[in-house]
Amino acid sequence: MTKVIHTVAEFQLEIAHKKVGAVFTMGALHQGHAALMQKCRELIGKDGLLVVTVFVNPTQFNDPKDLEKYPRDLESDVKLCSENSVDIVFAPSVSEIYPVNEPVKKIDPGKISEILEGESRPGHFAGVATVVNRLLEITRPVVTCFGEKDFQQLAVVRQMVSEFEIAVNVVGVPTVREADGLAMSSRNQRLSKEHREISMHIYEALNRVKKNLQSGMKVWSSIEEVKDWLKSFTEIHLDYLTVLSPELLNPGPGLARVLIAAKIGDVRLIDNIECELSAINV
Ligand code: PAJ
Repeated sequence: MTKVIHTVAEFQLEIAHKKVGAVFTMGALHQGHAALMQKCRELIGKDGLLVVTVFVNPTQFNDPKDLEKYPRDLESDVKLCSENSVDIVFAPSVSEIYPVNEPVKKIDPGKISEILEGESRPGHFAGVATVVNRLLEITRPVVTCFGEKDFQQLAVVRQMVSEFEIAVNVVGVPTVREADGLAMSSRNQRLSKEHREISMHIYEALNRVKKNLQSGMKVWSSIEEVKDWLKSFTEIHLDYLTVLSPELLNPGPGLARVLIAAKIGDVRLIDNIECELSAINV
């Protein structure tokens, strides 16, 4: 039976002396989130306490309209959680997370938060890191699962956990996709039928870069070729398409990541895949 808790005090009574696995979300849960719950359950075992937090964090939204538009449906979120053996859904109010009389430690993720997503969403990752740190303090998990879908977020969280020596195992979970390859996201609901159809080219673009690299092209020309190809889809407005190391630095031979962000209509989509670079590519 999944229990729904709204206050920090009640939550902490419930988790005392338990081995917690935590998945942090903003709700509007889908199969991507479910994959995180399943992985987390696998890692803590059947005797562990699986916690999912549902909190739409105001400090990570740049645009108040985006925050307002964010889909909220706790009842269906709890249903998906109970289908995935979640023990506790923690759905706090804003004042539980940011109490007025008790300042919350603000985290500055530094350089990593200024590139890619951070460039078009200033302050976003400071908001993410601050709330994740607060949620880690409240939930005290031994393991927490994050989606590779938000690859830069995962990198920011890993960096924070290592810098502050937080005793938690951060596990990345592969992206769950629709049948045509589109990465599952709560934002996909906002795509028109026509835009939904062309959105599959985002994933296709990533795979084209990977194929170019495998055929021995240099990183920059692999990207340029795909940028040209994308121009034929006038509805897709590319923000970035790039290849970086797993730490989001300049790539060298070995594992790397192809990352993309694009707007279709007023919906901004992000995605990324793993690739392997050889000395010929760099
Ligand atoms: P949210 O967008 O709800 O995502 C919660 C977690 O689900 C993140 O770790 C995200 O990467 C993962 N996720 C989303 N779509 C996925 C998919 N298709 N496949 C695999 N994992 C997926 O990310 C946030 O919330 C917030 O920034 C949060 C970390 C909760 C802080 O507020």
